[in-house]
Amino acid sequence: MNGRTPFVAANWKMHKTVAEAEAFAAALLPRVSDAEGVDVAVCPSFLALGAIVDSTRGSRVRVLAQNMHYEASGAFTGEVSPPMLAELGVNGVILGHSERREHFAETDRALELKMPAALAAGLLPVLCVGETEEERERGDTERKLRHQVQEDLSQVDSAQLGDVVIAYEPIWAIGTGLVATAEQAQEAIAFVRALVGDRAPEQAERVRILYGGSVNPDNAAELLALPDVDGALVGGASLEAESFAAIVAAAGRR
Ligand code: PGA
Repeated sequence: MNGRTPFVAANWKMHKTVAEAEAFAAALLPRVSDAEGVDVAVCPSFLALGAIVDSTRGSRVRVLAQNMHYEASGAFTGEVSPPMLAELGVNGVILGHSERREHFAETDRALELKMPAALAAGLLPVLCVGETEEERERGDTERKLRHQVQEDLSQVDSAQLGDVVIAYEPIWAIGTGLVATAEQAQEAIAFVRALVGDRAPEQAERVRILYGGSVNPDNAAELLALPDVDGALVGGASLEAESFAAIVAAAGRR
């Protein structure tokens, strides 16, 4: 027992209208009500956040946004701020997902500011890091992870490092069905934990580090049983309540 509560989050990306998200919540709640000892979260679009905060109230399911700006307010057309999310009752936010880095020019510089802004607003930040297939083949996986972890967490107080969640998501495994091997996942996640430990050894024991990339009900148990893997960030397999609940159950059995 390492004392870290497993965390399983559904990253819906740009899927599910408000009505579809509500139908999912209604199907999910009874399926996870007895998942003792697992933190469960869903990450709907901005538009469905309020409805899902309402429909999961009083349950074990937490609600996370998929992005936010670092400023509290200002002339940033199209953006959403940390206090706006907190006001809705949102519990946290995914930051630095590879799709945002690749398609929407999310930078490490912005993430440096977003991480402490989320914490200051009382939001749990889930920072995504990971290498491309090319970087892995070149032997640059550790260099990439070191760069992202050091830079993106640089403005987070050392004493607060254990309050963030990190998701190791190899980009080549996202949405491809090509899951990392147990050895690859364990090795990369232990490396990320050691990077946190370089700044604050006791926080490295607390920080939860998830695996993400083609997690499904068939491979979840093996990944979640790895000593450094504290949960999963699930995309495709989180779109159906039944398969997401099966992954939550696997986390509960670890
Ligand atoms: P996937 O997505 O499970 O569909 O690979 C994971 C993610 O992008 O967080």
